Amino acid sequence: MSTLFVCVTCRREGDPPAEVRPGARFYAALKERATDIDVVPVECLSNCTRSCSTAVTGPGKWTYVVGDLDPERNVDDILNFARAHKAAPDGLPPWRERPLHVRQHTIARVPPMRLPEEPK
Ligand code: FES
Repeated sequence: MSTLFVCVTCRREGDPPAEVRPGARFYAALKERATDIDVVPVECLSNCTRSCSTAVTGPGKWTYVVGDLDPERNVDDILNFARAHKAAPDGLPPWRERPLHVRQHTIARVPPMRLPEEPK
């Protein structure tokens, strides 16, 4: 299982004021196309200077924050990466299977959270 978080408040520097922010447009495009991936809107991934921004994560998996996304050009890149992440048990898709944009614009990767052990 993988979840794709999409920042809906992202606006790139220099963008004209728009009724619908680029992040919200990106979320809408992803939500419409992603029948097999859970797409969830969030407000700010703290990557505002390199927006638009997404994060792909899942239980027991590595988390990837990807930035510099264009809502008109990178829908397939993020969907393909989310599908590769979903297929990888540890959330680490092989480098060559990652879309070029993801290879070049990964902001951070975060290891899986370790849950406290059950009391004995
Ligand atoms: S507003 Fe989108 S990362 Fe901050």
